[in-house]
Amino acid sequence: EKDGYDYFMLKEIAEQPKAVADTLLGRIGTDGRLRLDEVRIPDQVLREVDKVVIIACGTSFHAAMIAKYAIEHWTRVPCEVELASEFRYRDPILDRQTLVITISQSGETMDTLMAQRHAREQGAKVLAICNTNGSTMPREADAVLYTHAGPEVAVASTKAFLTQLVACYLVALYLGQVRGTKWGDEITEVIEQLAAMPKQVEKVLDTMEPVRDLARSLRDATSVLFLGRHVGFPVALEGALKLKELAYMHAEGFAAGELKHGPIALIEDGLPVVVVVPSPRGRSVLHDKIVSNIQEIRARGAKTIVIAEEGDETVVPYADHLIRIPVTPVLLQPLVATVPLQVFACELATAKGHEVDQPRNLAKSVTVE
Ligand code: F6R
Repeated sequence: EKDGYDYFMLKEIAEQPKAVADTLLGRIGTDGRLRLDEVRIPDQVLREVDKVVIIACGTSFHAAMIAKYAIEHWTRVPCEVELASEFRYRDPILDRQTLVITISQSGETMDTLMAQRHAREQGAKVLAICNTNGSTMPREADAVLYTHAGPEVAVASTKAFLTQLVACYLVALYLGQVRGTKWGDEITEVIEQLAAMPKQVEKVLDTMEPVRDLARSLRDATSVLFLGRHVGFPVALEGALKLKELAYMHAEGFAAGELKHGPIALIEDGLPVVVVVPSPRGRSVLHDKIVSNIQEIRARGAKTIVIAEEGDETVVPYADHLIRIPVTPVLLQPLVATVPLQVFACELATAKGHEVDQPRNLAKSVTVE
């Protein structure tokens, strides 16, 4: 069943190009427009949506955070993102013009399911993004967009996460298409690039050997920090979550802009800090700011592990370890930037002698509150 891999997690990481391709399959027409008829929410309803609220837990919540950047940029519809466990008990403001999106690999996570029920009771339309056919969330939702990651056995989510991102991009672009917002060269190009992502993910997987060496060399580290900005911020949170659950290490993800508001006090000699660097093209301000963040932490002794686009030379002088990822549009970068972090956590955990498929205290599907 593991197809020659030692762990399901390794197999599932390796399956990501296919999972991404399968999730795109049949959803981009030959004319470059999106085909999401399966969602079956009438275009008129989507045109009237005045707010999107995305609800999820854990890794799926990180996908939701990334979706917010994409939805607001491509559709100009305000988007809120909330942890399911917080949403339910907060008296959220929802109505018929709110599109609620739940994201869940299993479709059975109790907190997300309860949030979905609550949203429907308030009259909101609910679209479930889910990986498990016929599970409770898609059965109860008004509409479903399945991710086609295939069964995910390892407790830590990897390929499901990448396909959730793809589903979120598709929904965001589809909303833009239906509403006619920002439709033009930028979007046409993004759709083309999205179709090319399976190959880009493959490229990343082909260059992971140095990341494994690095992970093994950090076996005795007690703490690792992760920094990012914009869509790199949720990626940093995801990198930290993977390390916590698999390697049982203290790991924290931060928005790089928050460093000076507290976390920079944690930086000490030899502390490994992983930094996800946004593309130097597009929003170059963000890129320049993060380069100064890298300089700041390095000057205070951090061991910098920098994830940056191919061809980005500005980071070279400040990187103790440099991990290259392919050039992608700014919003799609999480699809490639997350992969090294999965490999890093998996290898570090294995080096520590932990069982990566079944981390202690965790269950694949959390069906209790
Ligand atoms: C992390 C992980 C969990 C799940 C979370 C939500 O690797 O697997 O954080 O992402 O429990 O699960 P689903 O997506 O099934 O609702």
